[in-house]
Amino acid sequence: TQRTLVLLKPDAVRRGLIGEIIGRIERKAGWSVTALEMRTLDRAILEQHYAEHVGRPFYEPLVTFMSSGPVVAVVVEGERVIEGVRQLAGPTDPIAAAPGSIRGDYGTIVRENLIHASDSEESAIRELKIFFPGLS
Ligand code: GTP
Ligand code: MG
Repeated sequence: TQRTLVLLKPDAVRRGLIGEIIGRIERKAGWSVTALEMRTLDRAILEQHYAEHVGRPFYEPLVTFMSSGPVVAVVVEGERVIEGVRQLAGPTDPIAAAPGSIRGDYGTIVRENLIHASDSEESAIRELKIFFPGLS
């Protein structure tokens, strides 16, 4: 069984979509939420989280957006949950995301795409350490 880090981004919180998005995840048989925290992210934590994107043209606007209001950080556990939540979220660009996916149903522009989900086992371990350092 796997663990993944999900972030409900500031647009999801502002638009009142916390319950809707967590509900979709929870309705998947065999998956469960095992930790959850609402917090506002600062540059330092975002630089760690988005280390692979530092220096890219979209990095600064991404950090501005991601620190523009509270996010909800969620740990989800279950069978193949890393790949599975990415599937539920849909592609990064909401325009390319199919209806039925979170980004396809609610997404607007590429920067404000509602949800982050770890993209591999390695990323999940790294990101969970950043957001939930106390987790065993
Ligand atoms: P995350 O789960 O947030 O990591 O999204 P992702 O894995 O689908 O995308 P990626 O890690 O490649 O990029 C991180 C975030 O940067 C995306 O979710 C977008 O918000 C933003 N982003 C990525 N690529 C672009 C881009 O080409 N233009 C803009 N404006 N934003 C981008
Ligand atoms: Mg990513």
